[in-house]
Amino acid sequence: MCGIVGYVGDKKATPILLNALEKLEYRGYDSAGIALVSENSIAIHKTRGRIADLRCIIERDLVDDCTVGIGHTRWATHGEPSDVNSHPHLSKSGRVAVVHNGIIENYIELKHHLESRGHSFSTETDSEVVSELIDYFYNGDPVSAVREAETMLKGSYALGIIFADFPEQLIALRKDSPLIIGVGNGENFIASDIPAILKHTRNVFRLGERELVVLTAKRVNVFNTYGERIEHQITHIDWDAAAAEKGGYAHFMIKEIMEQPDAVAKTVAPRIDECGNIELGFKNITDDDLRSINSIKITACGSAYHVGVVAKYFLKNMLGISVEAELASEFRYCDPIVDDKTLVIVISQSGETLDTLYALREAKNKGGRVVSVVNVVASAIANESEEVLYTWAGPEISVATTKAYSTQLVLVELLGIYMAKLRGSISSEKVCELVGSLQRIPSNIALELRDVQSIQYIASLYFNCQDVFFLGRNIDYALSLEASLKLKEISYIHSEAYAAGELKHGTISLIEEGTVVIALCTYRPLLEKMISNIKEVKARGAKVIALVNADDDQTQNVADHIIRIPACSEIEASSLAIVPLQLLAYYIASLRGCDIDKPRNLAKSVTVE
Ligand code: M6R
Repeated sequence: MCGIVGYVGDKKATPILLNALEKLEYRGYDSAGIALVSENSIAIHKTRGRIADLRCIIERDLVDDCTVGIGHTRWATHGEPSDVNSHPHLSKSGRVAVVHNGIIENYIELKHHLESRGHSFSTETDSEVVSELIDYFYNGDPVSAVREAETMLKGSYALGIIFADFPEQLIALRKDSPLIIGVGNGENFIASDIPAILKHTRNVFRLGERELVVLTAKRVNVFNTYGERIEHQITHIDWDAAAAEKGGYAHFMIKEIMEQPDAVAKTVAPRIDECGNIELGFKNITDDDLRSINSIKITACGSAYHVGVVAKYFLKNMLGISVEAELASEFRYCDPIVDDKTLVIVISQSGETLDTLYALREAKNKGGRVVSVVNVVASAIANESEEVLYTWAGPEISVATTKAYSTQLVLVELLGIYMAKLRGSISSEKVCELVGSLQRIPSNIALELRDVQSIQYIASLYFNCQDVFFLGRNIDYALSLEASLKLKEISYIHSEAYAAGELKHGTISLIEEGTVVIALCTYRPLLEKMISNIKEVKARGAKVIALVNADDDQTQNVADHIIRIPACSEIEASSLAIVPLQLLAYYIASLRGCDIDKPRNLAKSVTVE
């Protein structure tokens, strides 16, 4: 949560910082600010609201030529979104300004410590203790002040720091929160994520855990915790900068929905050789290791967890072993049963989700074999896993995930097929059939995306509803979890996903005249039962939208509206079913005038507990 940026160079820092913050706004958007340093003083400009509000304030008040500064876009954790709680925080002496992403867990204790030594505080934030603490230790040497302060910090942090006495340098460090360094020509950058600086440089590296970097216009010096200088290999980012722009679409979300055929193809195709064999490129986990696995645990948060729930059904069928999906925030604290025969699959788009990172560490501590499925290259989760499978989905900017979800699912399925083949739990014919199915998913998603009008029509009928229930059985139930999250997070309509068989154990009392029920009916073995469930809710006045297979000729007789997925196999259906429901959520939110890419109270990357 929160985005931080920093610039040091020979250009005016203000427009560069504002532009970079706009690219990070997906990380948090309740307040924003910048700090600029020149001629031994620091100027702060900050406000509650969006970067656009900050821009207005700066354009009204500021004429400056500063070439060094830091910036922040906030997702509030401690203290309400307000002008005063916004970052940057300037120490009371005016000597140190700080932007922070993360949480300082012991900030109350540190506050008391500093208050007893004459420091005072004006905000409710945990972050303000960092600027005061550094100021407390500062006696002319910025690096040692930062390092001394760091020894007292508990929690997670990516910090950008400027000192009034050193107007030509910027210091940054991190622990458990992401930070990348951009290396330019006569200018250097820090940022929480790559798109923020792509306009200026494509040469980047990720700062390692507890590393500290001192940046000037011409130098980038990285130090480890022993104070030794270390070198980082620079990665050249070859994405098209347009990949992180809206490209003519109204929102990133619809652009990313439309990118799914391409994203899934990029994830699957390079992993299938010309003979149809799957190549995962594992280096540390051998085929023998995979043969000896006797249980699988999948752990993740939010939509990535939903991928895990869908995959659980598939992997269990393929491998005939116990497969569980558990929320990372639960897994990390539940003393999970994991040993060296357990494969732990960790799923994360950002690769930075804190609960997921700690779940991964818990799994490793217990000796589990860890494979992560990650989108952001070289992120913390990728770096700490034994093996990483990258979803080559490209940057995902919208807070509501779509293409990352779809690519994660096919990648876990690919892993499942690979293991099933190794272990002989399915025939080679079945392997060929499944691989062929995965290869067809991109063109089938493209087919679905050609007909958005029918989804727009349904959206226009129901966008004003208050509650929506998503029902499904087996894999359709797993899919309904994601469909329901998609709708509620961006449209603010209350929605719930329910296992259809569970309905009569309580939920059916909520169904009344006009309640919208979306029934997922793609799982063929239980279609009849779903039809009975539809009849039950219809009898109580529900309006039913049913998502069905191409050849289903029964459900249309009981539902009010039918959405058909293309003709496909079972494994394809699990990928195709979500797409119309992503579209439905998008068009409903759009008709309600919601801020689709930045839903209230949310952020793209949850780097706090
Ligand atoms: O970056 P991650 O995949 O680890 O993020 C996990 C969840 O926060 C994320 O999937 C969230 O639920 C989605 N943004 C919802 O659309």
